[in-house]
Amino acid sequence: MRPIMDTSLVKALPFSSAWLPGDRWPETCLRLPLLLLLLPVTLIILLLFFPSSAPLPPPHPNIPCGAAPADATAGRWVQTPSPPPPALYNQSCPFHRISWNCLRNGRPPVSALSWAPSRCGSGAVVPRVDPASFLAAARGRRIGFMGDSLSEDMAIALLCTLWSGDAGVRQWKRRGAWQGGHFPREDVVVGYHRAVLLAKYTWQPLENFEPRKDGIKGTYRVDVDIPADDWINITKFYDVLIFNTGHWWGSYKFPKETPLVFYRGKLIEPPLSIFDGLKVALKSMGSYIKREVPSKTLKLWRTQSPRHFDGGDWNHNGSCVSNRLLQQNELDSWFDPRFRGVNKDARLVNSLLQEALVETDIQLLNLTYMSEFRADAHPAVWLEKKDEVVVWRQDCMHWCLPGVPDTWVDILAARILHYFKQGKG
Ligand SMILES: *[C@@H]1O[C@H](CO)[C@@H](O)[C@H](O)[C@H]1NC(C)=O
Ligand SMILES: *[C@@H]1O[C@H](CO)[C@@H](O)[C@H](O)[C@H]1NC(C)=O
Ligand SMILES: *[C@@H]1O[C@H](CO)[C@@H](O)[C@H](O)[C@H]1NC(C)=O
Ligand SMILES: *[C@@H]1O[C@H](CO)[C@@H](O)[C@H](O)[C@H]1NC(C)=O
Repeated sequence: MRPIMDTSLVKALPFSSAWLPGDRWPETCLRLPLLLLLLPVTLIILLLFFPSSAPLPPPHPNIPCGAAPADATAGRWVQTPSPPPPALYNQSCPFHRISWNCLRNGRPPVSALSWAPSRCGSGAVVPRVDPASFLAAARGRRIGFMGDSLSEDMAIALLCTLWSGDAGVRQWKRRGAWQGGHFPREDVVVGYHRAVLLAKYTWQPLENFEPRKDGIKGTYRVDVDIPADDWINITKFYDVLIFNTGHWWGSYKFPKETPLVFYRGKLIEPPLSIFDGLKVALKSMGSYIKREVPSKTLKLWRTQSPRHFDGGDWNHNGSCVSNRLLQQNELDSWFDPRFRGVNKDARLVNSLLQEALVETDIQLLNLTYMSEFRADAHPAVWLEKKDEVVVWRQDCMHWCLPGVPDTWVDILAARILHYFKQGKG
């Protein structure tokens, strides 16, 4: 991952202003005794050659709480400081997807917790975004999510949050968006484009109707270097793009009777496993984005959302009917692939992601760690009757709204505002 830009750090270095504007400096100094001249020079030389011996400024002192990449990846959940800010939306938000509208479906509200990044110090929490000022700062901008239903979960949290800042919002589903809103007061668009693999994929039935011995009914052709139709033509439309993929790259979405096969122009040989296919697709999508999306666009890639199936996988009566957050010392046994638990996929995919995006200008939005604690915040058994997961009784993968995705949104909003403030985007 490329570190976010660092001029703030340069500005904050204690000695930078002492020697950079150097035109007047030698003249004045020459009139002073030699010792006085040598003293600052020696000091500067010392500072330059032994920077670690200089008192270090706090890292990124000008970045608001929530806006630095490290804010999501080191911290803890705390009770929301009282008085808690008023709820920004409830079950009547017009953008809800019923399955995640836990209040409507009878689930008691998810605990009111806030994320306290270590960097922010003394228990400070990421502030809830102020919808009206966010919209004002984002005036005329367009924010787009591309990916699977976990991107949708976050997009809906953003739409519902901003709804309370401009009740005149209208549903907006243009340019291939699956869900979205236009906020007329400040002319802001938030769109979600459903592209579960990000890359284009197409169903290819068997050519003849003879049943095959291996049981294959057809294949899904994945063109690893071609974006899905849903977002191929919008790369220059949005000012902020947030990508994800990962949750569909498994044998439960693509079982061996209907597998994925990978193409780059022609069939990739030897054929790739689904996991290797993901690797290649991430890399290809990363370089496509780098090539096709204007450099002023803020490009974020959100990491995997962890699942919390306890006592069995999603199709083996796994459960998340719980009010309890996981403890820090439980996280590895739940999520570290070495322990082969049923929820290991998030960290596995993340390791590929980190590798695939190194040479791009896409910033990671690492929401995995903070979400790993939140076994208490999934829809669990409070579902809509016609949900497909009802067969298996619990959804421990998506998140209740209001809930954890609101904290994702606060962090995203802080990052976006900070980017705009620097005069970018
Ligand atoms: C995300 O943050 C966690 C916690 O700091 C870290 O362990 C993990 O490696 C990070 N993942 C990625 C893909 O950067
Ligand atoms: C939900 O919020 C809206 C807008 O703030 C409010 O008018 C409505 O009464 C609330 N509904 C419930 C069920 O709390
Ligand atoms: C994208 O735009 C190109 C050029 O205008 C057009 O030919 C193509 O059909 C568009 N593709 C989709 C999926 O909309
Ligand atoms: C799930 O639980 C039900 C009863 O509680 C049981 O009949 C069923 O066999 C279990 N399914 C699996 C896959 O373990």
